[in-house]
Amino acid sequence: MKTLEVTPLEGKRLKVIIIEKEYNEPLDFEEAQNEENKRFLPILKPSIAFCRFLEQLINEVNPDFATEELGNRSINDFTENNGIAGIFYKKKIPLFAVDIDENAKSYLLSNINEKEELLNIMLKHLKEPQTEGSYEREYLTAYAQCLRQEIEEIKNEIKFSIRESWIAMGILDKAREINKENMVCIHISSPEHTDGVKKILESVDVEVETIQLEKKLIAKETSKTLLGLEELLESSKIQIKPLIRRSRESRPYIIFFLDTDEKASPFDICMAYDAGYNVVVPYENVTPEDAKRIVQDAIFSRDPKGIKHTCFFIGGKNVERAEEVLEVVKKTMFPPFQTNIIVDPGGAYTTASAMVAKVEEALEEHNLGELSTKTCAIFGTGAVGRVAAILLARLGCDVIIASINPERKDGEEYAQGFSKTFREKYGVKVEGAFAPTPEKKLEIIEKSDIIFCAPKAGVQVITKEMLKEVKRLKVIADVNAVPPFGVEGIKPNDDMREIAPGIFGIGALTIGKLKHKVEEEMLKEARISSKGEIYDYNYAIQVARRILREKAIASRLTVTLNYPRKS
Ligand SMILES: NC(=O)c1ccc[n+]([C@@H]2O[C@H](COP(=O)([O-])OP(=O)(O)OC[C@H]3O[C@@H](n4cnc5c(N)ncnc54)[C@H](OP(=O)(O)O)[C@@H]3O)[C@@H](O)[C@H]2O)c1
Repeated sequence: MKTLEVTPLEGKRLKVIIIEKEYNEPLDFEEAQNEENKRFLPILKPSIAFCRFLEQLINEVNPDFATEELGNRSINDFTENNGIAGIFYKKKIPLFAVDIDENAKSYLLSNINEKEELLNIMLKHLKEPQTEGSYEREYLTAYAQCLRQEIEEIKNEIKFSIRESWIAMGILDKAREINKENMVCIHISSPEHTDGVKKILESVDVEVETIQLEKKLIAKETSKTLLGLEELLESSKIQIKPLIRRSRESRPYIIFFLDTDEKASPFDICMAYDAGYNVVVPYENVTPEDAKRIVQDAIFSRDPKGIKHTCFFIGGKNVERAEEVLEVVKKTMFPPFQTNIIVDPGGAYTTASAMVAKVEEALEEHNLGELSTKTCAIFGTGAVGRVAAILLARLGCDVIIASINPERKDGEEYAQGFSKTFREKYGVKVEGAFAPTPEKKLEIIEKSDIIFCAPKAGVQVITKEMLKEVKRLKVIADVNAVPPFGVEGIKPNDDMREIAPGIFGIGALTIGKLKHKVEEEMLKEARISSKGEIYDYNYAIQVARRILREKAIASRLTVTLNYPRKS
């Protein structure tokens, strides 16, 4: 059996002009029940206006070959009884049928058959009046609805993504067979497949132009009362006008990734592509001066409308440097050349936001009170710890941030400087501490309700022994995903598991998954929105809260049915 594989043409350039025909070429599995199609059968053929347009287009572009969906037709029908084929043959342009392979289609449809049989049995039962009003009948109805939805989903997948890939592969295969480097193909497409086939072809670097035909009846000035068919036909002219859409008309989404580190982060680059950017341009070792040049150059290359498809992402582990770059990027842009900026140094903004939002939600869910009323201690004074401290202090928590780094010689002095830095730079009250020993750590743990572990990866902060005597502590969140984890006994997937009597743990993967969603959402929003927004930790925490809220609503509204009914 032929396998589906859409791969780029090696050493060839292909331009495909997709012409949307006037009806959708039916495919049999949907056809059997499609009464609407039967009704319109007499007009499911190319009109004389379409044929004339096609002839003119062929003269204009002189294509190397042409393709059309086969649909339900036999190859014989396609070549002998097809008005479109006649036009291409007359012009000596080879026309090929392209469509989903018959064997592949039968194989895919066989997956549905079992479900269809089951659905028919259920529908038969539902026709019997005896069960009226019973739970069994209601359960059967819900079951049948699920099956029907599943069948529809599979059919749609076959009809669209799979069929369109086969069509695109057919076009590419024909281009491979033709011994030419530069080729033009005219593809005659059903309206419902134009966009799908276009996207697939463009994904393998084929230039695509689509032509839709706009049809209009132009009424003539004749008598208002129409008597016979003759007069009816004479009463108006038919106009068919091509609407040409070129690929370049939809501007690509470009994100300039300004990374202050030596090597741009592959994590953020992958995330950006997955969020739908067409192009990610990484710059490394970016200084504020570099940023100014890059931004100026980038924004003027597109008009104010086009600039909305441009975005800047500021990364790199050093938060201070990232903030300096952010200031320059902000200042360099001015209305109307303003676009969205994401800032997430070393993933710290999204990680800290996810960690704080997750704890906030967990406290609420477990009736442990509001986070804003708690005393929170943060172990680790890197970017994640500092941003968590700002977010918590802004919420109204009492916040202690502690360096636990035994290698730090200036520990006390460093910790003392914190309250001044946080007050002056961020306008928040945060207490600094230096706790390199178990005793010092315990002192902080004993006066905290919540602990956030954010030290260097692979550093254990809290041992089981330390948790034995503590009374006040309720929750520990740990972002360290590298063993040994931040807390002895915690597991990365923990989500409020009791890790010591009365103390609940939230592990690094639970926070990491939320962080991933937050970054993804911010990237997507920044791509689509035209507001000229700054996506920083203040924005990230709102996104994290929204994601958690939506998840909670979805789980509250989830209904699971059983049969027989549970009492
Ligand atoms: N789960 C996720 O999705 C995710 C995402 C991003 C980051 N992370 C994790 O979050 C944590 C914090 O990241 P970050 O970028 O803020 O911080 P970081 O720069 O990796 O390190 C944080 C702090 O650890 C302290 N430290 C260094 N060596 C130490 C040692 N030998 N013993 C104890 N502490 C030591 C440092 O000292 P001082 O405290 O004295 O400055 C530093 O500020 C890391 O574990 C990182 O892997 C997780």
